[in-house]
Amino acid sequence: MLFKIKSYIKFLISGTSKYSIHSPFLHHFIQDVLDHGGIFYCFPAIELVRKKVSQDKKTIKKSDLGAGSSYGNKNVIQINQVLKQEQSSPKKAKLLFKMVNYFKPEKVLEMGTSLGFTTAYLANARKKNEVLSVEADKQKCKIASITIKSLGIKNVKIINSSFSDLIEKAKHWHFNFIYFDGNHTEKATLSYFNWAVEKVSENDVFVFDDIYWSKEMHNAWAAIINHEKPTLTLDLFSMGIVFFNPNLSKQHIKLIHPSNFY
Ligand SMILES: C[S@@+](CC[C@H](N)C(=O)[O-])C[C@H]1O[C@@H](n2cnc3c(N)ncnc32)[C@H](O)[C@@H]1O
Repeated sequence: MLFKIKSYIKFLISGTSKYSIHSPFLHHFIQDVLDHGGIFYCFPAIELVRKKVSQDKKTIKKSDLGAGSSYGNKNVIQINQVLKQEQSSPKKAKLLFKMVNYFKPEKVLEMGTSLGFTTAYLANARKKNEVLSVEADKQKCKIASITIKSLGIKNVKIINSSFSDLIEKAKHWHFNFIYFDGNHTEKATLSYFNWAVEKVSENDVFVFDDIYWSKEMHNAWAAIINHEKPTLTLDLFSMGIVFFNPNLSKQHIKLIHPSNFY
């Protein structure tokens, strides 16, 4: 927490507001995605299911996957606690929806499904896209599948696998939009990035969650933005967005914006 607070003070000092942005691409992105206040028809339905799950006190066995996912001492956890601890906030999930809606990627990958609420947003953003969501915890996969089914979503495949096994199997798979949201360690984050960046094309977008979650995650983000392939990188504090379009000048923008707190 202290790392996050100190980092946000530094972020404010070196960051920029949307009024100082010169890139037309970023200007449109801010206007049509970040500042887009519209409510899409699927939002209330997803939030209704989320509300139902937030009252679910049934327990599941705890898994100790990734960094920071082993809360408390008991070896079981209530489903509503998993929801509280792990899910991206509705605001963040809606922002991801708007990104997919705006960039129209064909193949979307979510690394870390948990209970499937962000998965539902990613899938609803564009019914023509294929969303693959990967989760190593079998029980969460089951709950996520129920979430997805109850919302009548057809374009999602949830894969019960560890990220490393998937990467091994999916050496040549290419995704146009990837949400990296599990196993927040520097080494793992960089290995997932290195796997994905090898086959990246110019209109692809990568989103890294929690880039200020720890020093390690921030080191990973620093390595990503310094990699040769990204051009523009946008640091929203709550997440980092990576663009590869060679027509964009290579620059790293820290944007002071309400989404810093999503
Ligand atoms: C933060 S949660 C994902 C939240 C979800 N993307 C959302 O937006 O609500 C991270 C998930 O990744 C899973 N996970 C962590 N490390 C993993 C790994 N190495 N392989 C597969 N799944 C992993 C955890 O079980 C957890 O459910």
